Amino acid sequence: MSRFHQEVASGQRFEFGRNWQRFLKRLNGQRIRIAARSLQRRLGVSSLAGTSFLDAGCGSGLFSLAARQLGAFVTSFDYDPHSVACTMALRHRFFPNDPGWEVHQGSVLDREFLKSLGRYDVVYSWGVLHHTGAMWEAMDSVTLPVKPSGRLFIAIYNDQGWQSRAWRHLKRAYCRLPRGLKLPFLLAVNAPIQSAIFLRSLLLLQPHRYVLKRLLYRNNRGMSWWHDLVDWMGGYPFEVATPEAVIRFYRERGYIVDNFWTVRNRQGCNEFVFRNLSHVLLGNVAERTVVREADEPGQEAVAPLRGVQTHHSLTAQGDRRGAA
Ligand SMILES: C[S@@+](CC[C@H](N)C(=O)[O-])C[C@H]1O[C@@H](n2cnc3c(N)ncnc32)[C@H](O)[C@@H]1O
Repeated sequence: MSRFHQEVASGQRFEFGRNWQRFLKRLNGQRIRIAARSLQRRLGVSSLAGTSFLDAGCGSGLFSLAARQLGAFVTSFDYDPHSVACTMALRHRFFPNDPGWEVHQGSVLDREFLKSLGRYDVVYSWGVLHHTGAMWEAMDSVTLPVKPSGRLFIAIYNDQGWQSRAWRHLKRAYCRLPRGLKLPFLLAVNAPIQSAIFLRSLLLLQPHRYVLKRLLYRNNRGMSWWHDLVDWMGGYPFEVATPEAVIRFYRERGYIVDNFWTVRNRQGCNEFVFRNLSHVLLGNVAERTVVREADEPGQEAVAPLRGVQTHHSLTAQGDRRGAA
């Protein structure tokens, strides 16, 4: 039995790939276009033509597909064999026999594997590093394949203190349950939460907002509300970080913030686009570690690097606050 399957069998890991396989049945042209648009917006580009793009923890393969359609040369990998199978299925369907898109099975924690992939203009690891079981180690190793001046686009679950700790227990309990009890557990945990949210929308005389948000959920990166709910419930291992901690971590490695989007104190992922300037900055450690207290989560958390232009886009809420 592989290590992955042992981890799943002992309840230490959620099988994201099986959920992605069900999601792919819902995949259509509209979801793919929305995914591509979200990549364009976040990276601030209309095309990725001629660039190299590494999708680390590719999941369904939807963002590898979007990047390939935008013209990038894509390498995708995931730890979960079912996620790898999903990505291969998308490649087979949309880009059969295409040498511009490679798919591998591998772990972002395997530094030798990462080194073997070479270096990329864009390394994309959305909602992955907090599910590895060793988030800070993964955050470090994912820098290995970033080219000098290349970009690292990551999304990391927001640290909500006791709420994050409570969810961690619930997720672990879900993963340890026999298959037949998972759905009842998911409903038992989430029905009261959803009822409370709906009741609140009723009290605010805005029940349509509750319904529309779920009906139009695909506008969140092309995702599906139900599959994201399952992904959120099961998503274990589960770690979290404040935006300040993430920015500080990469600053110490010579990365500057090109752009970031915070969910502030809410549940969901903070998204970051970093630029690798380690080749320029790593000689000057003292300047890189000037960090001052944040007035608000994600806001002005890190003092700008002297002599380096940083652009912080502080959007109150990202495209997607759901599961990752
Ligand atoms: C929530 S999904 C995100 C998928 C995709 N990046 C997206 O944005 O839709 C998390 C993915 O990370 C993968 N993953 C977890 N641990 C990993 C590891 N150590 N190395 C590579 N992928 C990993 C999971 O198998 C899963 O497919």
